[in-house]
Amino acid sequence: MNRRSALAAFGAGLALTLAACGGGGAGSSSGDSTGSSGDTSDITVGVAMPTQTSERWIADGNNVKAGLEKAGYKVDLQYANDDIPTQSQQIDQMITKGDKLLIVAAIDGTALSSQLSSAAAAGIKVISYDRLIRGSADVDFYVSFDNYKVGQQQGTSLLTGLGLLNPDGSKGTATGPFNVELFAGSLDDNNAQFFWDGAIDAIQPFIDSGQVVVKSGQTKIDQAATLRWQQEVAQKRMEDLLTSAYNDGSKVDGVLSPYDGISRGIITALQNAGYGTGAQKIPVITGQDAEIASVKLINDGVQYSTIFKDTRKLAEQVVTASTAILEGQEPEANDTETYDNGVKVVPSYLLESEPVTKENVTSALVDTGYYTQAEVDAGKAGS
Ligand code: BGC
Repeated sequence: MNRRSALAAFGAGLALTLAACGGGGAGSSSGDSTGSSGDTSDITVGVAMPTQTSERWIADGNNVKAGLEKAGYKVDLQYANDDIPTQSQQIDQMITKGDKLLIVAAIDGTALSSQLSSAAAAGIKVISYDRLIRGSADVDFYVSFDNYKVGQQQGTSLLTGLGLLNPDGSKGTATGPFNVELFAGSLDDNNAQFFWDGAIDAIQPFIDSGQVVVKSGQTKIDQAATLRWQQEVAQKRMEDLLTSAYNDGSKVDGVLSPYDGISRGIITALQNAGYGTGAQKIPVITGQDAEIASVKLINDGVQYSTIFKDTRKLAEQVVTASTAILEGQEPEANDTETYDNGVKVVPSYLLESEPVTKENVTSALVDTGYYTQAEVDAGKAGS
């Protein structure tokens, strides 16, 4: 893996201890590197997460909290119900209370500039977690996945499900034309554009050749977007698409979906319209996050694929970066070019994601301990 070190200095403590973070990668145990620097128990890290309506953010919050506590820090973990003013207030309070570092997964990536400049004025560093905070010079580090690649994996998986590509990437035997509809995430989330760009870059050649037809004609991200990534919003749009573009007896063959919750909304709309019963096959539908309800749908042959992003590794990585920053070091970056937030390029540590279909649910999700077989069978965590 390409691990370039970021050279931007974070301040005086930089030079002495750079070597200590040299080996810290996705699989490293961040808890091990702390003990040497003395008492950390009076240091609180503020962790601002967007919502508890999606499993992944609950897992992220729990994993980050546990990792930081293991490293000896106190943690102030807050969820904001996908409400922008709530998240702004939570971050204001973290600053007032004297938290020493902020880890923020933003709801609206452009709405936190004033909070971040107060943090900077108080000497508090900020790590953008999974979603890049835009329009601010006061974002010190970014941990995420390779979000363009996630999109590419979604687009490629749609094409593989349709048979236009083989799993090894070679040309498949199907020729189409296939009717496909496109969904995007929430436009205030910087990731949504990356997922979309990656997916469209994979699909566009097939649109150009006529093998993929977006029958609704809605091929622009702002037409395809889903505010706050909400399942109900996606369901409604799919219902509208069925009524407006498929009222001539034609059928949907595939749907690009950027997130499992959105996929479930799409599936509900399609099932209500008779897809998945009798001869009417459910289309090829993608997703993201390997949410347990969707993993069951994949096992049951209802949803075609998801993209697994191991949030345990992301949490480990943010703990590694946090520890470095709190010890006055520079966190290790493996990308210093991609994530320009409009004001600066934010040094980043990006992790790899993995497409999951029925074929590799067990090896990707059960063998790695992410879920138990019982959870996968029940479609419910804690089963
Ligand atoms: C995350 C995805 C998630 C989506 C909706 C994005 O920022 O990267 O993993 O599916 O938000 O919560």
